[in-house]
Amino acid sequence: MTRSRRRRSPGDVRAELVVLANRLPVDRVVHADGSEDWRRSPGGLVSALAPVMAANRGAWIGWPGDVMEECEIFEHDGITLVPIGISQQEYEEYYEGFSNATLWPLYHDLVAKPEFHREWWDAYVAVNRRFAETAAEVAAEGATVWVQDYQLQLVPSLLRELRSDLRIGFFLHIPFPPAELFSQLPWRRELLEGLLGADLVGFQLSGAAQNFIRLVRQRVGHKTHRDTVYLPDGRTVVAKAFPISIDTAQFEKLAASPGVQARAKQIRDDLGNPRRIFLGIDRLDYTKGIYARMRAFSELIHDGHFSVEEATFVQVASPSRERVDQYRKLRDETDRLVGHINGDLGRIGRPAISYLNASFPQSEMAALFVACDIMVVTPFRDGMNLVAKEYVACRLHEDGALVLSEFAGAAEELRQAFLVNPYDINGMKAQMLAAYRADPKDLGRRMRAMRRTVAENDVANWANAFLTELTTPRPAHDKHLRPVKRA
Ligand code: F6P
Repeated sequence: MTRSRRRRSPGDVRAELVVLANRLPVDRVVHADGSEDWRRSPGGLVSALAPVMAANRGAWIGWPGDVMEECEIFEHDGITLVPIGISQQEYEEYYEGFSNATLWPLYHDLVAKPEFHREWWDAYVAVNRRFAETAAEVAAEGATVWVQDYQLQLVPSLLRELRSDLRIGFFLHIPFPPAELFSQLPWRRELLEGLLGADLVGFQLSGAAQNFIRLVRQRVGHKTHRDTVYLPDGRTVVAKAFPISIDTAQFEKLAASPGVQARAKQIRDDLGNPRRIFLGIDRLDYTKGIYARMRAFSELIHDGHFSVEEATFVQVASPSRERVDQYRKLRDETDRLVGHINGDLGRIGRPAISYLNASFPQSEMAALFVACDIMVVTPFRDGMNLVAKEYVACRLHEDGALVLSEFAGAAEELRQAFLVNPYDINGMKAQMLAAYRADPKDLGRRMRAMRRTVAENDVANWANAFLTELTTPRPAHDKHLRPVKRA
């Protein structure tokens, strides 16, 4: 890591490509001697963008992950990192509140009930404004700015008001709900207008882009045609799907490495070499369907389809947003259910479920992907779900089964998975059993096709496709439109 000594202000940066995301792409590491360092966070987005950012004087604006007011601009891996300070109150109202207790459940089919609080909205506006003001200072003349995800939906319009010379893109990593759900939001028009500050608004699926276009027509009153919104000032906004992916080659390399191969064998030995190992890896989030999946698996044992000697389930649930009520409740319910299942069905040294409430490095995840035979990904709603793609990338021998929710974005591409409706426990049991009993030839045919998909569309292709479309010049339209009325 190289950290600049002189204090730099955002105006010194003058970046040609600016990325804004709620979090910076680095994690703070504190060493035994008390010294601090930054390490690149795992994740495809940063690995896809790192080369293009390094080549284009790139800057990344985000929150460093701790509640603090002050943090200096610094360089890491050729990218300028511009930290945004967030106070304790903003953390509670902007991050835990409006982002994760209002928008998150609202955008995920109301799997939990969203809360609407005016003071949370005020904090969301204030933090979005701080991001936009910082970007306005950091960006060079005519620069490209790429805003990421639901925490920052007002940034495109706030930034355009300050800097009309910029090319602004926005990508939503989570689902975008249908008009019937989105319309509950008291600030629906403000959010739509926030996004309309962008030239290009990207979604995981084309259905989400259509939801957005329909809402813009209904709630803001702009003229639209197919994927394009026509604004009275001559500007057009394009909304379309760019399904995100993973760094496929990096996962393949990791899976092939001797360390990961040895660790995978060790995991199988530690689990007593059962006939089949099921695997779930998720953030501990109520959208992921962990509870229903555990019930389905336990019923398969209970019904006598296999014993705990023949099959076991490894569930990794990494802690997430732990102070938000719904997440706290989910943790208690999951702990109780796993205890109950293991108490009922487990034998000495043979729990039905090995439940790990922890986060692991990427190499351990890869070892789990290599070790386990049936990956179970059953969210009630998910923008994409990259874990499903990571599992496929790690199955170098074209074996293993993927059980995948129809309601994960990944299901549009990974059609050869054992698809399930996560609300239908019997249906889920049937597909998990079909995966357990499947003929290796059938598994090979499915896995080969899915591996082709993740090889063809990796995260670098995704980023290139978005940035190419964003930076392609688009002439002003010549339609005569009346300004829309304010609500
Ligand atoms: O895409 C969903 C998302 O909220 C990302 O924005 C984020 O990187 C990830 O999930 C983890 O969530 P959080 O930043 O709240 O820990």
